[in-house]
Amino acid sequence: MNALAAHPSASAAAEIRSLDPLIPNVARMANYLLGGRDNFAADRDACEDLLKAAPWMRQVACDSRAFQVRAVSHIVAELGISQFIDFGCGLPAQDNVHQIAQRGNPTARVVYVDNDAVVGVHGRALLARTATTEMVVHDVRDVDVLLNDEKLRGLISWDRPIAVVMTWVMDYIREPGPIIDALWRGLPPDSVVAFSHLAIDGLETAEAEGVVQVYDEADAKMQARSASEILALFGGTWEWQEPGFGPVQDWKPIPGAPPREETRASCVGGVAIPLGRQRQGTE
Ligand SMILES: C[S@@+](CC[C@H](N)C(=O)[O-])C[C@H]1O[C@@H](n2cnc3c(N)ncnc32)[C@H](O)[C@@H]1O
Repeated sequence: MNALAAHPSASAAAEIRSLDPLIPNVARMANYLLGGRDNFAADRDACEDLLKAAPWMRQVACDSRAFQVRAVSHIVAELGISQFIDFGCGLPAQDNVHQIAQRGNPTARVVYVDNDAVVGVHGRALLARTATTEMVVHDVRDVDVLLNDEKLRGLISWDRPIAVVMTWVMDYIREPGPIIDALWRGLPPDSVVAFSHLAIDGLETAEAEGVVQVYDEADAKMQARSASEILALFGGTWEWQEPGFGPVQDWKPIPGAPPREETRASCVGGVAIPLGRQRQGTE
């Protein structure tokens, strides 16, 4: 039984909470941190509390987003993958996965997935206008059902490798392990995952608690994890592509990019392939 099936009303409850403007919402909070305007007073107030507790959080959010751009560009250009599923895509931002991917391959296809009804409305309006993008409102904890979703399967072919983008989303999931295992089993050969997650290494306990407490009031709780706990979610069955798993700002940085602000914590992640699931592998 998957994590969602154990809580059948989780999806409906998340949808209702996401529509309440008085409850800080993680998608709208991310939008505010990244400089967007699709947020309410409750989201902005929560972010200001967050920035008091962790002034470096905005830089970390930008680091994760910039990693997403470099990882997707790399996956298209160097791995030749042209199908993406963006788990927990969030509200449309400046550079969305289909825009990044289609710069490298204009035929690239992207399915955006989020369990937030409001993200779904924005996504359908802004992202899903073309024949090469789709928006699916679904809880990623229900991953086996998601991978068989009719709309998703209408755009994404299991005859070719798929890249799953999981940036800054497993942070809000209590048990990401089963989702990652399901991707290992369920994706076609030669598929990859682009992954990022805030690591609390380097923070005093009170500082980490301050971050978590802000999200305790939001529609999705943040899970505080160290880099080694995050790496362990991949259980040794995934291989991290060069330059490996680590702070995302160090993942193939663009030479000559402006210097970033120093931060007390980082998002960690990278691009991983499921071991033993390559076409030339041991299947
Ligand atoms: C912090 S935002 C990150 C957005 C985007 N991935 C990025 O990198 O900027 C987290 C997103 O994950 C979504 N999310 C959280 N839990 C989810 C779940 N169980 N299923 C689907 N989406 C989820 C939230 O609604 C939100 O839009």
